[in-house]
Amino acid sequence: MKNDADKIKYLLSRRLLAWYRRNQRSLPWRKTSDPYRIWISEIMLQQTQVDTAIPYYHRFLKAFPTVFSLARAPLQDVLKSWENLGYYSRARNIYAAAKVIVEKFDGRIPDHLEAIKTLPGIGQYTAGAILSIAYGHALPAVDGNVRRILCRLFAIRNPLDDAQEQKRLQKLAASLIPVKHPGDFNQALMDLGATICKAKNPDCSRCPVAGHCQARLHNLQNVLPITVKTPAIPHRQAAAAVIRNSKGMLLVVQRPASGLLASLWKLPGGFIKSGEDMENSLRHSVQEELGISVRTGKYLGSVNHTYTHFRLTLQTHECRLLKGNPNPLGCQNWRWASPTDLQNLPLSKIDRMILAVILPGADSKKIDKKGKRLQRS
Ligand code: ADE
Repeated sequence: MKNDADKIKYLLSRRLLAWYRRNQRSLPWRKTSDPYRIWISEIMLQQTQVDTAIPYYHRFLKAFPTVFSLARAPLQDVLKSWENLGYYSRARNIYAAAKVIVEKFDGRIPDHLEAIKTLPGIGQYTAGAILSIAYGHALPAVDGNVRRILCRLFAIRNPLDDAQEQKRLQKLAASLIPVKHPGDFNQALMDLGATICKAKNPDCSRCPVAGHCQARLHNLQNVLPITVKTPAIPHRQAAAAVIRNSKGMLLVVQRPASGLLASLWKLPGGFIKSGEDMENSLRHSVQEELGISVRTGKYLGSVNHTYTHFRLTLQTHECRLLKGNPNPLGCQNWRWASPTDLQNLPLSKIDRMILAVILPGADSKKIDKKGKRLQRS
């Protein structure tokens, strides 16, 4: 061992591994060594809490038990299995990657960094996580939680958001990775970040490496890491049209194949420009999307949802078809949908919420309790 710093790094990884062996969370993807399952879990966990991901993980693998079954399935089935999990580009990327894995890699999840990073949806973090956990490669998996832990362990006072600092932390993490059990080591950091070295109120009394933590030594554990405040996200407005045919079926459209919530279904309509009248805007967006004229009628209610970059209020009006036949001008597809069809189509969370306003009781389980529901008129 070269110097004191190396000795400390060695001790840190030994202690973390020993702690993980006794205290690891029992999670379904830790009971397998199948790289396919580990890949699916890592993609789900990119933006989703462990507890939320677990039922999706089970359902997804029941529906698509192998990479071959996933690659063969219709995209709509994959999106449906992702419904309400959010960040739907993950599902589209998994699907696209499955096809590449079958066609280019004979159905085997690549076990090399360069190869695995060519797959859609796999960046440095996910590559490190999959390769270390599934194949035992000594690579780090550095996300926000790991950066926080490293900042505290080494009392790093530079803002975490800085790109140079992130590179330094990536190198620091790489220097800590043990050759034996690198996957366990990465998951030990994940568990430490989730259960002890949390963003707020870290519980240093239970920390296996508190004795080596520079932040704790200097009583900085509640100060570090330093982050620059992110500006408040904008609040956008959108409107949706409830258009029924003579059988009471609803007109729904499939979103374009790229962009926000790509390929999911929704009610016709779109964003309202600032200062624009809501009903005017709705008539225009339905015209642009489907080439039909509508008359706006009764206001039915509204719901709110927060995305990464903006908050959205979606309002909805009954509309009557005045002129024209629907044409998919600004969407991939359109159709009339019965309540059962609506349950089977993949929709985003806010679209499920607005349906619950329009068709109360039809799909009550899927209403997001946090989504504010205004009175119906
Ligand atoms: N977050 C990302 N990957 C994880 C894993 N393998 N276990 C727990 N949390 C995680």
